Amino acid sequence: MRMYDIIHKKRLGGVLDKEEIEFFVEEYTNGKIPDYQASALAMAIMFVGMTDAETAYLTLAMAKSGNTVDLSEFGTLSVDKHSTGGVGDKTTLIVAPIVASLGAKVAKMSGRGLGHTGGTVDKLESIEGYKTSLSINEFMSQVRNVGISVIGQSENLAPCDKKLYALRDVTATVESIPLITSSIMSKKIAAGTHSIVVDVKYGSGAFMKTPEDAEILGRKMVDIGKACGRRMAALITDMDTPLGDAIGNALEVKEAISVLRGEKHGDLREVCEALAANMISLSLGVDIKESEKKVKDAIESRLAYKKFIEWISAQGGDVTLIENPSLFPSSKIECEVKSSISGYISRMDTEKIGLSSVILGAGREKKDDTIDMSSGIILFKKTGDFVSSGDTIAKLYTSDIKKAESAEKLFLSSLSFTDQKPAEKPLIYKIIR
Ligand code: URA
Repeated sequence: MRMYDIIHKKRLGGVLDKEEIEFFVEEYTNGKIPDYQASALAMAIMFVGMTDAETAYLTLAMAKSGNTVDLSEFGTLSVDKHSTGGVGDKTTLIVAPIVASLGAKVAKMSGRGLGHTGGTVDKLESIEGYKTSLSINEFMSQVRNVGISVIGQSENLAPCDKKLYALRDVTATVESIPLITSSIMSKKIAAGTHSIVVDVKYGSGAFMKTPEDAEILGRKMVDIGKACGRRMAALITDMDTPLGDAIGNALEVKEAISVLRGEKHGDLREVCEALAANMISLSLGVDIKESEKKVKDAIESRLAYKKFIEWISAQGGDVTLIENPSLFPSSKIECEVKSSISGYISRMDTEKIGLSSVILGAGREKKDDTIDMSSGIILFKKTGDFVSSGDTIAKLYTSDIKKAESAEKLFLSSLSFTDQKPAEKPLIYKIIR
């Protein structure tokens, strides 16, 4: 078999068979196919697309390109959720203990922040002592005993995707539905979970800009996951506005704690309840209405909050911070952002808001940058709210006044105002089961 022929076949609109896809994945992972041929294939796929069968072959082959996790001892109880990424998205911190408190098993590998979006592993590291790296034995034993463990992604999980994703990033071949589907699903399949709920974000802070495109991606992920023997659901949710009010690592952990204590309501809790209910319905085989009730009860009874403490403690985190969030280290500089305009906020460019938090120190501008865990943004006003001139829209937290000045400029440029209250949009556009 020759890589040249595979590229040529795809370029002419052909359908690749299982052997051709497996040949590409194996040889590319081993370094026998050079990047220039892999990028030519990615570009041909970008234009020609892939059938569902081709996407499933690519997903499975990439999932098998490195280590896989065996969660079969948990039967149908193992469950995961994956977000396509956003700003202020701290849902894992909330939904994982909710579902674990109800008997599901969460053995999760999460990522770090990427570009303007945050990552769960960075957020967890804002809790002093929390270990994001465990041996596979420690990981499995915690899942057995506590019902939940969240660690950073192992180096050798779906290594073919790791290489291909880095290549796509620099060859303008990221935005292809079959390539995104196989990239995300290969890692989920390799991580071994039986049920998977994907949270496909759309809007100015997301990868998919429209709900229609997000729905196409969500349906594809559900179909491919099912073809690989997984129970699947996808939620298409809004990322046109940051989720919740906090952006930045420790700030987001504190917000997650207030949701788990039943103190905080609103958009974040609504999305978390929907994600958790779908995870429970899939993993425990419970009707969705009953799952929704169980999830609400787990929050109101503080069962989920207790599970959160148990999880953080088992993984080495300082639980006095959870019990008393005012003990989280605070930032040196706090700066209020005031509006110079009166009117309704009609739009927030959420990518710009995410980038403002990166400037403040909450994310990395370069790969090796160190995160300032206490930095970030608290929003006091969001899309649809009325503000009068002089009102505080947000508070910025950082260690450097220069950073505050440039983040404030970018933050203000993300806002649009109108005289009329903008029409409300649903937070959850669609649920695909
Ligand atoms: N996230 C991934 O892991 N892969 C993609 O292709 C896009 C987003």
